[in-house]
Amino acid sequence: NEDQFKKVLSHAKEYGYVFQSSEIYDGLSAVYDYAQNGVELKKNIRDYWWKAMVQLNDNIVGIDAAIFMHPTTWKASGHVDAFNDPLIDNKDSKKRYRADVLIEDYCAKIEAKIDKEVKKAEKRFGDAFNKEEFVSTNGRVLGYQEKINTILSRMAKSLENEDLADVKALIEELEIADPLSGSKNWTDVKQFNLMFGTKLGASADSAMDLYLRPETAQGIFVNFLNVQKTGRMKIPFGIAQTGKAFRNEIVARQFIFRMREFEQMEMQFFIKPGTQTEWFKHWKEARLKWHLSLGLGEDNYRFHDHEKLAHYADAATDIEFKFPFGFKELEGIHSRTDFDLKQHEEYSGKKLQYFDHEENESYTPYVLETSIGLDRMFLAVFSNSLIEEELEDGSSRTVLKLPAVLAPVKAAILPLVKKDEGLVKLSKQIIEDLKWDYNVVYDEKDAVGRRYRRQDANGTPFCITVDGESLENNTVTIRHRDTMEQQRVKIEDLKSIIKKEVDV
Ligand code: GAP
Repeated sequence: NEDQFKKVLSHAKEYGYVFQSSEIYDGLSAVYDYAQNGVELKKNIRDYWWKAMVQLNDNIVGIDAAIFMHPTTWKASGHVDAFNDPLIDNKDSKKRYRADVLIEDYCAKIEAKIDKEVKKAEKRFGDAFNKEEFVSTNGRVLGYQEKINTILSRMAKSLENEDLADVKALIEELEIADPLSGSKNWTDVKQFNLMFGTKLGASADSAMDLYLRPETAQGIFVNFLNVQKTGRMKIPFGIAQTGKAFRNEIVARQFIFRMREFEQMEMQFFIKPGTQTEWFKHWKEARLKWHLSLGLGEDNYRFHDHEKLAHYADAATDIEFKFPFGFKELEGIHSRTDFDLKQHEEYSGKKLQYFDHEENESYTPYVLETSIGLDRMFLAVFSNSLIEEELEDGSSRTVLKLPAVLAPVKAAILPLVKKDEGLVKLSKQIIEDLKWDYNVVYDEKDAVGRRYRRQDANGTPFCITVDGESLENNTVTIRHRDTMEQQRVKIEDLKSIIKKEVDV
């Protein structure tokens, strides 16, 4: 919902999570900077992923390949020829759209109608309302659903067959039914390459044309044999990597959901040909479990199995998340067969095969890939955590209920009275002791109630208040962000109390 999304945007800025890039020059479209809190949240998400993928799996290792790669990489990977998006211009508004996104937007409008019907019925039936039953028996809702399915499957088919004229026709039909921008003046749909070009080398004639990598995966494929040999890895094994990727996205909206410079967290799992179905299932389950472990709510996830497969895949699914603007792709799990390694063998002339000692044979491994956008994960966590809460006394509070393990600041230390030297000194001692293990802050400005609210909105799981009694018996008050409960505890127990919620 739009209101919630607006709140997410302004909260991210106000609390130092995300700024628009080069804001003083009016910003750069679809490019964002992570601010003082954002950088910590992003790092914590990355670490949480790395721990689950690399540290906890003894057959997965990490690498950090360069962003620049030999230009032939992108011929082999198919990006030079196939990494295109279908674009359409509107002559009246002089705006350019991605054709598939335009069509999806229309479907989102229909989905909003379904939502409205459900809400109306919910109001009418009260406690007796059963959403699933209503959706499966209500003719109008089923009609809407069917319409969405028809539109999307027709689009998928036309895109797959590269029937761009039909994609245009579909857009025009939708326009007639419900004008999106009040005009039908469209150009033909064209394909547009999404890679950013650059040059390596200073002199004009010897400079080499390069691309900024549009995915991190290729850095893993080209290093496959190096890692396998030096790490003496036995199949099945994985290589994981996190890093920047660049795509000249056309319809770059929805904040950090679709950016031109973004970060991916990818893992390529090398397996024996023929075992891909089993590993596909394994990684689907493992990745969903990882998501659910953060407690953002089971209902906010769903799988979307692909009918239309990319040229390299024999099975693919998305883990979709319920963003404020609806369910959208958060992570992709792809069974890529031996496409990538075979392509690199062909283009490089080097063998990229694995010798299986048990079977006494060489083969080109198959690859199972998990690929998640770090920024998209950030948005999922952040938007899901931002809550406006009614309190018992009739007031309300804004609270950012980030999973404690991901919160940028784990605890704020508050001297009850900022002019009291003894309280300030003890507060700073507590910080000195905690800061080796946790990111903690000192906050002395304003009344303590306001400081609590500020830390709630910042996502800090604990506030530790130091008062007169603290000086007498070495105890403090610890307040929990989500329950607002306060406990009197010994200063020496603080670390273990924080650890219990923060460490996983
Ligand atoms: N190696 C496979 C690959 O790159 P993808 O579906 O194109 O697959 C994987 O991208 C993930 O990267 C997506 O699920 C999404 O989370 C993230 N992603 C892709 N394009 C993005 C963009 N422009 N901005 C932010 N995240 C993006």
